[in-house]
Amino acid sequence: MPKILTIVGARPQFVKAAALSRALKKYKLKEVLVHTGQHFDENMAEIFFRQMEIPEPKYNLGINSLSHGAMTGRMLEEIEKVLLVEKPSVVVVFGDTNSTLAGALAASKLHIPVAHVEAGLRSFNMKMPEEINRILTDRISNYLFCPTETAVKNLRREGFDNFKVTIENTGDVMYDVALYYSQVSSTRSVFAEKMKEKNRPLVLATLHRQENTDNLSRLKSIIEALNELAVEFNIVLPLHPRTKKILDKENIALTFDTVGPVGYFDMIELLKHCSFVITDSGGLQKEAFFFEKQCLVTRDETEWTELVDPGFNFLVGANKEHILQKANEVKNCKMDFREKPYGKGNAAEIIALSLKEL
Ligand code: UD1
Repeated sequence: MPKILTIVGARPQFVKAAALSRALKKYKLKEVLVHTGQHFDENMAEIFFRQMEIPEPKYNLGINSLSHGAMTGRMLEEIEKVLLVEKPSVVVVFGDTNSTLAGALAASKLHIPVAHVEAGLRSFNMKMPEEINRILTDRISNYLFCPTETAVKNLRREGFDNFKVTIENTGDVMYDVALYYSQVSSTRSVFAEKMKEKNRPLVLATLHRQENTDNLSRLKSIIEALNELAVEFNIVLPLHPRTKKILDKENIALTFDTVGPVGYFDMIELLKHCSFVITDSGGLQKEAFFFEKQCLVTRDETEWTELVDPGFNFLVGANKEHILQKANEVKNCKMDFREKPYGKGNAAEIIALSLKEL
């Protein structure tokens, strides 16, 4: 029976790990969970472990709040030590964060097979740290579990058929998670009820990408758009700690109240009850679709093109007028959401069964 070592570190990985850990348990596969410590706050990390019943990590490396190089380097060093002790049959990494790259690199240098969940995504913007992380992780992975057909095509275009790797379109584990927890979220959400208003439609917004937060003119323009929309809509903006720090430092004022990061159940309830979504998050772009909401993506490109081409989601960049104009268009959305580009909600089971064969 293979010994599977999974590496998580940042919020979106906790969500993905929830689905895989449950499937590994179902098939009685041994999992050792390693948390790099990249995200560490109660509301960025701990609440997810608790709410989603993710197993307690055997190792927490406590590495966070460093520059990209320092963070990735320290993770590489510490993960290597864990791998030498645990000697897993395979290392599973998720998504595109610094924890993903560090985990994949540490394993591949020790000749331990790497499985990448959410392989093949591309934004084609090499300035994004996530794009660098995902391209390098894919290249050193042995098992490339792709969430969509687009992701499979990206790998084929880059010549992955010439490498000794396994490429599989498993569907998206985030879809599994959304389906599973949406059945219980209404009774377990803490804040969502309080955030609803009778008189104004709710708009769910998030903002944390480096390309927006570290570029003041983009950041100001997006905030101005949200401030203007707050006249008509009840804007709920769960603020990422980094975004909050920058808004405070630069004295950028919001005309509406904000909240800190919220847990997954609250997020689902907000998605169910919102009119539409405005975000630069990779995950939330899809979650909007899972809950049949349109989404304005405050970026110039996206990895999830299958939602943009048919007109579910719109790339609005950081252009205030563009955001306002599209918000006006999508507020009375009548799209047909029956398309299923993310599989059947059993991606984690498909991955677990593939890992079982190792
Ligand atoms: C990371 C990922 C990004 C992902 C995002 C989800 C990388 C390169 N980026 O970005 O792909 O979409 O997570 O949230 O890995 N902080 C806290 N408390 C926390 C976590 C972070 O205060 O619990 C602070 C840190 O101290 C740091 C800042 O937020 O100053 C940024 O955290 P970091 O993990 O470097 O990157 P994210 O922006 O969260």
